[in-house]
Amino acid sequence: MGRVWAVVVAGGSGERYGERKQFALLAGRRVVEWSVEAARSVAEKVVVVVPADATTDSYGADFVVAGGPTRSASVRAGLAVLGPDVDVVVVHDAARPLATPALFKAVVDALDADTAGAICAVAVTETIKAVEGVGPARRVRATVDRSALVSVQTPQAFVASVLREAHGEGAEATDDAALVESLGATVRAVEGDPRNLKLTTPLDLAIAEQLLRP
Ligand code: CTP
Ligand code: MG
Repeated sequence: MGRVWAVVVAGGSGERYGERKQFALLAGRRVVEWSVEAARSVAEKVVVVVPADATTDSYGADFVVAGGPTRSASVRAGLAVLGPDVDVVVVHDAARPLATPALFKAVVDALDADTAGAICAVAVTETIKAVEGVGPARRVRATVDRSALVSVQTPQAFVASVLREAHGEGAEATDDAALVESLGATVRAVEGDPRNLKLTTPLDLAIAEQLLRP
């Protein structure tokens, strides 16, 4: 698949967590360092994107750049330092420190001439309903058929030129695949890993600590 680089986004503020979760200690190392190391398993170079006031450390990456106000803007900041000869970019949330080398390999291997993107996806296990209204007035509108739904994780791998084009005009989405999908390109959903938690609140860090226990 040619030259592979990774962009690890760690430029968020951790509003729901209560602090910058990417710098929290997990089994003795910072969350972002776990994520950078996992990305290294497939990437020749790793770019880490951090808040503008946190660029003095390397976090184990090859390049450190300041992020933007949204996740998509932070990914763009990372893409800006990519060499022109990079063929594949793997984008990964620093907030998923338990992503395994096998997941990184699976998304990179899923790319081919007809597949511009590959994401990690896991089946939805809970019943999903559409609701309307707020507070005591909130009521169910419909129960959604979950058989065709998946929950999406990072890492996500892309043909570099396609991801650049998808991010072209300051586009915004909650993941990069959504931008590539809107170009009409094919994105494959490979099997993710339920252990690949995203740290959202401190409870998730406590669970991650348990999962890492010998
Ligand atoms: N991220 C980023 N730049 C932003 C916002 C998010 O690089 N402006 C990164 C986060 O650091 C995280 C990943 O994108 O690794 C996924 O975002 P999320 O889990 O939402 O983290 P935060 O935005 O920091 O958390 P919150 O939404 O609770 O503020
Ligand atoms: Mg966020």
